[in-house]
Amino acid sequence: MAEIVIVSDMAAAGELAADAILALVAQKPDAVLGLATGSTPLAVYRALAAKGADLSRVRGFALDEYVGLPPGHPESYRAVITRDVVEPLGLDPALVRVPGDRGPLETAGADYERAIIEAGGIDLQILGIGTDGHIGFNEPGSSFASLTRVKTLTAQTREDNARFFDSPADVPVHCITQGLGTIQRARHLVLLAFGEGKAAAIAAAVEGPITASSPGSAIQLHAHVSVLVDEAAASRLANVDYYRHAWANRLPWETL
Ligand code: F6R
Repeated sequence: MAEIVIVSDMAAAGELAADAILALVAQKPDAVLGLATGSTPLAVYRALAAKGADLSRVRGFALDEYVGLPPGHPESYRAVITRDVVEPLGLDPALVRVPGDRGPLETAGADYERAIIEAGGIDLQILGIGTDGHIGFNEPGSSFASLTRVKTLTAQTREDNARFFDSPADVPVHCITQGLGTIQRARHLVLLAFGEGKAAAIAAAVEGPITASSPGSAIQLHAHVSVLVDEAAASRLANVDYYRHAWANRLPWETL
């Protein structure tokens, strides 16, 4: 089962995730991180930046990228990762990849998978979840075996992400995303969600049936998952009392 941790707010979740990353980097200075974008993981990156650790050898693989934005577009995930992650954390830009950043789009997925394997795999994958249940940009119906590839965004996701663009029509139709199979191969998944709008997606991912209709439910097949949620995002979980009890009674050596 995933470890479900109900936190007071985003900052508390960011602290927990940042501590897990620092513990990893202490063991392995060139650890490989899977980097989510969007609003959710910002708390993690802020908490990490505040700790001021040397992360210059850390390698990174972004989860996903829009397809079709002009190079350098401020809302491209390459630009977001540079602004919110690489610069504040002091990562080496040469060690951070974004899907689709090399070669033609047709072969970019296979190239990205190869690069992840050559890096020795992703040690810790940061994840958010869409209101439609996607992780990465694996929209409902995505195969649990899928690897990095081009996908078409749902109308719901484009509407949700319109806040980053001048108009909803400006949100790209396509993306390139790590697959659910890629995500499954990471050694530790840290899924964060905040706010009432994520409550249904979190309940489906954590307690619902394992189904491609609910891509987040793929986490139930992974041996090491930490789900960090605030009260609002936890509000539709049936076993919330047990999750609180288990976290309050964790053994001294138990971390995320
Ligand atoms: C982003 C990503 C998406 C987001 C999800 C939630 O790299 O892969 O799955 O995590 O759309 O987005 P926010 O955090 O903006 O609510």
